[in-house]
This record gives sequence, C-alpha cells and structure tokens, in this order.
Amino acid sequence: MKKHNFSAGPCILPASVFQKASEAILNFNGLDLSILEISHRSPDFIAVFLKAQQLVKKLLKLDDSYEILFLQGGASLQFVMVPFNLMPQDNGYAIYLDTGVWAAKAIQEAKKFGEVEVIKDENYQSNPKHIDTSLSANYLHCTSNNTIYGTQMKEFPEIDVPLVCDMSSDIFSRVIDYTQFDLIYAGAQKNIGPAGATLVVVKKDILGETGRDIPSYLDYLVHIDKKGIFNTPPVFSIYVSMLNLEWLDNQGGVEAMEKLNQQKSDLLYAEIDRNPLFRGFASQEDRSMMNATFYLEDESMAEAFDAIWQNAGINGLHGHRTVGGYRASMYNALPLESVQILVNCMRELENRN
Ligand SMILES: Cc1ncc(COP(=O)(O)O)c(C=O)c1O
Repeated sequence: MKKHNFSAGPCILPASVFQKASEAILNFNGLDLSILEISHRSPDFIAVFLKAQQLVKKLLKLDDSYEILFLQGGASLQFVMVPFNLMPQDNGYAIYLDTGVWAAKAIQEAKKFGEVEVIKDENYQSNPKHIDTSLSANYLHCTSNNTIYGTQMKEFPEIDVPLVCDMSSDIFSRVIDYTQFDLIYAGAQKNIGPAGATLVVVKKDILGETGRDIPSYLDYLVHIDKKGIFNTPPVFSIYVSMLNLEWLDNQGGVEAMEKLNQQKSDLLYAEIDRNPLFRGFASQEDRSMMNATFYLEDESMAEAFDAIWQNAGINGLHGHRTVGGYRASMYNALPLESVQILVNCMRELENRN
C-alpha cells in the first residue's frame, strides 16, 4: 500500500501524475518513444514546455510582463543567480530577510557580490515583522516558507525596490498576490514536480542593469532570449511538472489548494496544541501550512511514537537533521486522510500513556 508521505522534499505528487509519467516513460504521446529519449527541440516537447509556462502564468495570475524559465541547479543556484543579475558591479546593496537555514545560505552567496543588510528576528521561531518601508536597495530578498523551522510569511514587505522571493516550499499552495514580486524562484521538488527543474518567474525590466559580465548560463537574459531553451532543459522534470500543474488547475487552482492546505494544517496544529505530549516549534502567528514542526515533551517517548507512525504507513516525519523533533510536510498532493492518520497516531501515544 502507498505510504502516507510527509517527506519535506522530494515529496509526494498526485497518484494520477505518477501514473501518466510512468506511461510516458514507456511511450510518450503515442510516438513509440519514451519521454526520456525525445529531443528537447521536438514539437511534442515544445508543446509540453509552452503548456507548463502557460499554466504557471494562469495559476499564479501573472501577465505577460513575467518570463517563465525552468532552469537547473536547484534553488541553490538561484542564491547565486539572483545577486549576479540584480546587484550592480559597483556599490551593490541588497536587503535579505534571514528567516531560516535556506535564507542564510542565500545571504552567504549574496555577500560575494556586494553589501548585504540582514534583517532577522532573534530566532527562527518567528519572522521579522517590521520592515522599514523606506529602505533603498537594489532588491529585497525573502523566503516565503521556512521548510526546516516551519514558519511562513503571511505578509510581504511593501517596498519600492524589486522584491525577490524563494518560494521553494510553498509556491502554488496559497492565494497571495504573486504580482507583488519581481522575481520568484522555486526548486521543483515540492509543489511543482520532480527534482531537476527550478522554476524562475522574472520581470524582464529588472534585468540587465548590473554592468557585470555574467557567464551565459547564469544570465537570465540569455535564457529569456533563447525562449527558455538555451541548453538541454530537464525534460522529464518539466514534463511531470506540467502534469502536476494541469492536475492542480483541474482541482480548482491555487484557491482549491489553499482550502485543502488550510484544513490539513488546522487539523494537525489543533492536535499539537491539544495533546499534552507534544509542543509546536514555530510561533502560532507564523506557523507554516506546508511544514508543521513539533517536538515530544518527553523525548524518551520517541521510540514508541516512531513505532506507532511507522506501523501506520507514515513516511518522512523526522525533523531536519539540524533541528530534530518532527516535521510533517503537507504539500498540495498530500490528502487530508494522511493527516488524520498522523493525528490518530498522536492520540494513540497519548492513550497508551
Ligand atoms: C526554502 C528553500 N530554499 C532552497 C532550498 C534548496 O533547494 P535545492 O535543493 O533545489 O537547491 C530548499 C530545499 O529544501 C528550500 O526548502
């Protein structure tokens, strides 16, 4: 039986997407060829590529001022490409919100390109709230959802400089005004598709101003100029991402996902707060709908609890190795029933004690 997959990423995708993807590995579009062996310049793949781009725009409600790219190198390469493309050679200055491990890694890379002002709360249990809206910088970078600590930004700074967001772990999961961002990036392997592609959504008019000699692959304008196919793109990842975005659209789009994600996270957080054996990590107002982090009050119960959830067919519940405890990642494709199973496991531990 399929496991209840709470893995933080790569993570669960809809069963119908797995099914179609596996069929395409054997015979794609009736071509008697696998999706893995067709040219990235063939009409059949170009149609997939255009459909994926079009679905991103539709689902995020973006107009044609945004370019849609599927690059490689993960979100980690975007930590480099963003400052390379947005921070001028001379006197570059950017503001970064440090809301967790991934934001800190982005900051580490940006510092190689210019001055970085870091805004951070005392610890990663909550997000910085009062961002000085008069700040002037080449751009402001934030991370919408902190995958490791389980916090999520509910509001974004209203500023006059380009707003850049790492949405790797919550894109397509909730209704926000995506047009407030000038550049969004996200590794595919959570709410988009399999690892391999990285979605970049960028407004062309913020590019080309740095005076830097940017290596071709790292230059967004090169990719835009080549209509997203500068080199061989991650064909399979893009194909499955397109299938997943199609599924999402058929479910009712981001609005429907938000409703379901709200139900799932409400169910789990209610149990974390009610059950005396557990405590949540993130401060209540910043809790993530995608990744719920929690601890056992008494660590000596870990063995018993782990046995209960593993026997119930749950996978991927351990917290990130740097923070321990538990993390339930509830991406779009995770059904509500899986969360109910987890809640039952938490209750079973309580009943036994
Ligand atoms: C918010 C966030 N940013 C960046 C990354 C790194 O992504 P990648 O492995 O695609 O480089 C992750 C990975 O989990 C993430 O959750």
